[in-house]
Amino acid sequence: MGEPIQVKQTKMNYSKDRPKAENPVKIMDLTLRDGHQSLFATRGRTEDMIPVAKMIDDVGFWAVETWGGATFDTMHRFLNEDPWERIRTLKRYITKTPFSMLLRAQNLVGYRNYADDVAEAFVDRAAGNGMDIFRTFDALNDYRNFETVVKGIKKAGKHFQGCICYSMTEPRMGGDVYTLDYYIKKAKDLESMGADSICIKDMAGLMAPYDAFELIKTLKSTVSVPLHLHSHFTSGMAPMTHLKAVEAGVDILDTCLSPYAYRTSHPAIEPLVMTLLGTNRDTGFDIRHLADINEILEKEIIPKYRHLANDTKMSIIDIKVLLHQTPGGMLSNLVNQLREMDALDKIDEVYAELPRVRKDLGQIPLVTPTSQIVGIQTVNNVLFDTEDERYKMITSQVKDLCYGLYGKTAIPINQEVQKKALKGYDRGEEPITCRPAEVLDPELEKAEEETRGLAADIDDTLIYALFPVTGKKFLKWKYGKEPIPPEVIPRTMEDVKAEQQLIQDAKAGKLIKKADKDTPVQGEAVRKFNVFVDEEYFEVGVDEIGGSPQINYVRQAQPMPPQPPPQPVAKAPEPAPAPTPAATPVQGTPAPAAAESADGTPLTSPMPGMIVAIEKKEGDQVNQGETVIILEAMKMENPLTAPVSGTILNMKFSIGDQTSKDDVLCLIG
Ligand code: CO
Repeated sequence: MGEPIQVKQTKMNYSKDRPKAENPVKIMDLTLRDGHQSLFATRGRTEDMIPVAKMIDDVGFWAVETWGGATFDTMHRFLNEDPWERIRTLKRYITKTPFSMLLRAQNLVGYRNYADDVAEAFVDRAAGNGMDIFRTFDALNDYRNFETVVKGIKKAGKHFQGCICYSMTEPRMGGDVYTLDYYIKKAKDLESMGADSICIKDMAGLMAPYDAFELIKTLKSTVSVPLHLHSHFTSGMAPMTHLKAVEAGVDILDTCLSPYAYRTSHPAIEPLVMTLLGTNRDTGFDIRHLADINEILEKEIIPKYRHLANDTKMSIIDIKVLLHQTPGGMLSNLVNQLREMDALDKIDEVYAELPRVRKDLGQIPLVTPTSQIVGIQTVNNVLFDTEDERYKMITSQVKDLCYGLYGKTAIPINQEVQKKALKGYDRGEEPITCRPAEVLDPELEKAEEETRGLAADIDDTLIYALFPVTGKKFLKWKYGKEPIPPEVIPRTMEDVKAEQQLIQDAKAGKLIKKADKDTPVQGEAVRKFNVFVDEEYFEVGVDEIGGSPQINYVRQAQPMPPQPPPQPVAKAPEPAPAPTPAATPVQGTPAPAAAESADGTPLTSPMPGMIVAIEKKEGDQVNQGETVIILEAMKMENPLTAPVSGTILNMKFSIGDQTSKDDVLCLIG
């Protein structure tokens, strides 16, 4: 059905007053959501959107994507911003262009399926706060996960855009699973669910231009609602894919303003405007107006985010994505995770393991949250599996997936993996086949109870219901119940300028490199002196290198107090290690070097992460293999199980604490 592109040889100009095209390509701008999510880890702040908001409103976009995806999570967690407030604030500046959000269906803006009552309340409040278009997707393309949210979107009288996650198992569209017929069926399903438009969501930029042409052309003759294409630039194909999609008759395309475009983000709008100028599909946008917005972004906004950009590579395309089909965000997550574990050299093993894990888990599309689920499980397999045991450390999310809590996978899950994952699983060892939310108990009332006295309204309660640990922390900052940590405070242009000056000075040779010297651990015998120089006063600590010979205080007489004060060691041969509270030095003789082994087996943190649940408290009895602590790493929950049976001793961490790799979390003795 695709209409040929016709070039009209009339007098053209850059501004808006050129003749209007017969069938202009409509554009959704993603700068304020997917743009900074892709390039700057979703760290864009509302205050940095305001300077261009009104100008963006004047472009003539079909919609602006302003919310959803990872914004809700990062805003409250890292930026100390109320996510709901962003919609309301931007609405004051953007009054003509509809707002669009990315909704992960029953996952909402989180990483698991929430109960129906939370989903209903969330959609209701998103609409109430000003959201107009709900771009809805399910990572498994299981549209039973749409049912509850779509009811809410329709009830609020808003636009329901249904997504098909574009996935492949072969280098091009085809193979056994993600065929043209697969997409036709999904599009028909969406139309019959009442979709106001349909989006093909190519999150990893895998769609080849001629596949796009075939797909869009076929879908145009299959469904009657507008077709929208979302194709990330990652592999470098997207601008060509866009053009072929335009030729095939696509109605709406996604782009970013050029400073937020390319790399793992999206094609820029400016070259597209010029490409289509004077054709029957001319966008009609004023290219000079776009240039004015770019000027502000480049000069006043981007410098604050430069440090977050991954600019270690010369190439702006990632050819590897074509080989292993991982979305950009997932890729950087994997690299970060491996780096934190000192295992970056294992990246090739991860690439090799990834397709195996994906196949084991039902050949699911890789998009949030399945990209994290598959990605982190892959990392776990590479790091922890042994020759005779695969899937040694299975994340909670993989267990949930195997149980059916995310929905139906494209092909059945590997039965062996499924059986292992569900062994002792708390909901039962037999997987479900119904709509996942049907087995979820209501969650809202519990969230209300748990935030009583803290949450002021339903919006607050929802922040907690979606993200209990970080949400609660945020609410405490919001209401002044806990001090705001310095790392969530915005970076200013002054900070940026000071840093740039420093770099300039360094390049000019004006800075002298300070020799790297580790600050030694302060010994227990450090002696403090007050030093007075004129009017100034300094406190100086003096600590003899190697630890001073300790004869300056007398040992306590009572034997082995429960928490003895750190006992000085007589002339330790090397700097003493950090004192172990339970160490029991023998009176008058040097302490044994590894006394802690006598007190229990340590449960260590296998990776850096945050403690989200403590299943066994200090003093509790635990059997070997039982979950003691749940550690969240890269948004995945890892149940840490007891290496031996015994009593939990010396639990040093609480919920919300960050851990480093190899931290001893508790002892079991
Ligand atoms: Co995207």
